[in-house]
Amino acid sequence: MADYRIASLPGDGIGREVIPEGRRAADAAMARVGRTIEWADYDWSCETYAATGRMMPEDGVARMRDHDAIFLGAVGWPGVPDHVSLWGMLIPLRRELDLFANVRPVRLMPGVPSPLAGRTPEEVDFVVVRENVEGEYSSIGGRIYGGTEHEAAYQQAVFTRRGCDRIMDYAFEVAAARKARGKRGKVTSATKSNGIVHTMPFWDERFEAAKARHPGTPTDQFHIDILCARFVTNPEWFDVVVGSNLFGDILSDLGPAVAGSIGIAPAANLDSTRRSPSMFEPVHGSAPDIAGKGIANPIAAVWTAAMMLEHLGETEAAGLIERAMEAALADDAARTADLGGTATTRASGDAVVAAIERA
Ligand code: NAI
Ligand code: MG
Repeated sequence: MADYRIASLPGDGIGREVIPEGRRAADAAMARVGRTIEWADYDWSCETYAATGRMMPEDGVARMRDHDAIFLGAVGWPGVPDHVSLWGMLIPLRRELDLFANVRPVRLMPGVPSPLAGRTPEEVDFVVVRENVEGEYSSIGGRIYGGTEHEAAYQQAVFTRRGCDRIMDYAFEVAAARKARGKRGKVTSATKSNGIVHTMPFWDERFEAAKARHPGTPTDQFHIDILCARFVTNPEWFDVVVGSNLFGDILSDLGPAVAGSIGIAPAANLDSTRRSPSMFEPVHGSAPDIAGKGIANPIAAVWTAAMMLEHLGETEAAGLIERAMEAALADDAARTADLGGTATTRASGDAVVAAIERA
């Protein structure tokens, strides 16, 4: 019997090209430490939707529960509206499995061009921790007086003490773990308590309470507008940045943008209490514009696989993948077109596997 059983959901477009490379890297690294993964394949996608009228079966979320983790590519394909593919699969998986922390590391890798001039890898190295199941993205609200000149729309944000406390505690845990690895180990809170007068002062209060639970950790906080500017002008200030669902969403796209290509950006959706399997997916989507050509960058999926092994406690295998990925990025012949290279998806994945086997 394998040590882990992982659900593999490549989804649509380049998800089907990069997930196999992430799996190869994971298998190679686990082989080096004498462990095995059994992959369970699920073809849920926009094709499933076209054939059945659903992105996944009615019991889809329940079927994920008997896996140790979920490894997902991307969903979305022309012909199926994006809100249908997203709310038909990704959102139910995140919410019903209560994957409350969305974690996106941002690192400028050697060999990867950054839009920020003159920055070194040491200066751009932080993690965005986004609240993933409440906040501004709630389904509470509606419209009234539709079609009349009094037409109005209401959207009710939801901030709970439990929701704020657990995401902030998780951010402090990430900072402590980073500190132990020689990084800054600081937590920055994204707020907007000057303009949003109910939820954001509450968020700030809960941040004060979290600070008291984690004495000794350096902290600061910024309003979201200036924080966005600082990501660009002073990325070296940041280590762990915690934000609500909306602020975290914005910051976790801005972060990878300052560190170079979306083709390398990884993400985890975590239930840190481990009651549910956590879900790991590259930040990028299904990229219909390049799908089928074999040129997608597999590094985001490879880095995501490393995050998954780390979460499963396979720290050594995760480290093997990270170092192999750095070696592949530094090698001109292994870089894909989004990084200015000419390598195919497969060749880039081969370089990662070869570096793992050499290690
Ligand atoms: P996208 O991330 O798919 O593509 C944006 C741009 O980045 C495209 O030009 C694409 O070619 C490029 N790109 C993305 N990943 C790349 C990689 N690994 N290597 C090289 N280039 C890469 O975002 P877009 O175009 O907004 O969305 C396309 C579809 O994906 C939509 O249906 C959208 O809803 C879906 N999507 C799904 C996500 C998910 O499943 N988590 C996340 C984002 C978008
Ligand atoms: Mg986003």
